[in-house]
Amino acid sequence: MAHIAVIHGPNLDLLGTREPSLYGTTTLEQIDERIRTEASPHEVKTFQSNGEGAIIDFLREVSGWADGIIINAGAYTHTSYAIRDALSAAAIPAVEVHLTNVHAREEFRRLSVIAPACLGQIAGFGWHSYVLGLEALLEHIG
Ligand code: DQA
Repeated sequence: MAHIAVIHGPNLDLLGTREPSLYGTTTLEQIDERIRTEASPHEVKTFQSNGEGAIIDFLREVSGWADGIIINAGAYTHTSYAIRDALSAAAIPAVEVHLTNVHAREEFRRLSVIAPACLGQIAGFGWHSYVLGLEALLEHIG
């Protein structure tokens, strides 16, 4: 049985009401529930924080436990060398996911500074991006 850590970054706690035309109406709680169902019988720990440091602390906390990571770092995707370094330091296979197609939006969203520390990126499929990310991660972990 694999251990999967799912990390949601800033403002993703607002899903359901945050810019629904972009992000949909599914709440974070519903997404976490869906991931748990899809991942069964594998074990899942989910975490959301609006703080960069808290995300880094969580990565350290699960680094002895997790076999794989799914991360939607929100806007930190585009700015946080600290989260990228923490992912590299954890040395656990990670998949970057986004609800929206970050490549079809504002210019600043096209750059992911965490991408080099991840296996790959899935973007643009709404909450389904998480499920696709999980599938890719489990396939990789084997
Ligand atoms: C996001 C895309 C980011 O650019 C944005 O800052 C988010 C959400 C997404 O899931 O589409 O907060 O990561």
